[in-house]
Amino acid sequence: MALVTTTEMFKKAYEGGYAIGAFNVNNMEIVQAITEAAGELNSPIILQVSAGARKYANHTYLVKLVEAAIQENPNIPIALHLDHGADFEICKSCIDGGFTSVMIDGSRFPFNENIEVTKKVVEYAHAHGVVVEAELGKLAGIEDDVKVSAEDSSYTQPDEVEEFVSKTGVDSLAIAIGTSHGAYKFKPGTNPQLRFDILHEIEKRIPNFPIVLHGASSVPQEYVKIINENGGKLKDAIGVPEDQLREAARSAVCKINIDSDLRLGLTAGVRQVLFADPSIFDPRDYLKVGRANVKAVVAHKIKDVLGSEGKA
Ligand code: G3H
Ligand code: 13P
Ligand code: ZN
Repeated sequence: MALVTTTEMFKKAYEGGYAIGAFNVNNMEIVQAITEAAGELNSPIILQVSAGARKYANHTYLVKLVEAAIQENPNIPIALHLDHGADFEICKSCIDGGFTSVMIDGSRFPFNENIEVTKKVVEYAHAHGVVVEAELGKLAGIEDDVKVSAEDSSYTQPDEVEEFVSKTGVDSLAIAIGTSHGAYKFKPGTNPQLRFDILHEIEKRIPNFPIVLHGASSVPQEYVKIINENGGKLKDAIGVPEDQLREAARSAVCKINIDSDLRLGLTAGVRQVLFADPSIFDPRDYLKVGRANVKAVVAHKIKDVLGSEGKA
């Protein structure tokens, strides 16, 4: 199967009450881990690439790695998506360079400017058979190129979504309902609670329209513990409760973004091996353990959180 767009995936996910996992890829081990898990569980999957990933691994290497993964896993639909495209140029570069989906993240702009840049990307993307995700509302947290403080974050306003979607022609919409990027999403001792009231209000305004959740890692405490027991220092890392993500996946949320949990799994494996035996210096010895953890994380998400097992 060649790379696909997310159109068909989202339609089936919406109707079937599940969500597609969008996992960030930065190197060969991560691409292998995600696609092997999805292949074994017969699940559709989205591989997403950030600007930081392109800087680190190079666009061509990433596209070729994904092509290899398709060849190895011919029976599952795989989409290749640009995560958090900051402007028209990076979106164009990914559209021209073989991606099937791009995100234009205009959430830092005022409403009308967000509409303007999103519309421009949609026109170019649709003319090239590529789909577009946009964002309304602001998530707190840190990505390579964007840092939003908790005070500057803001929930999506349901009043704005209808106008935004109709004026831009965008294919899916990322919303802010209390998730955030990174491993430190909530304060210790608090009760993490996503704003399902806002989500349901948005669903009413734009029925049958695919919603995206960013910042949806759950920060598995077993990996935080392994990291800390093996020389790491992650204090009070807390993620989104998985039962709330499962609930979101049953609703209009069709795409759930996960990166931090993969990083934690990979790092836990590498630290465990190197801490246990400081004489090791063959990268394969530690990367294979990290890779196995990433695969286990993805398999767990597909089966127990997203509900996308067997939906390929
Ligand atoms: O949303 C952010 C993703 O985790 C990508 O992070 O910009 O550090 O590659 P990055
Ligand atoms: P996490 O940091 O919660 O994994 O979010 C990743 C993400 O939203 C990528 O766009
Ligand atoms: Zn994100």
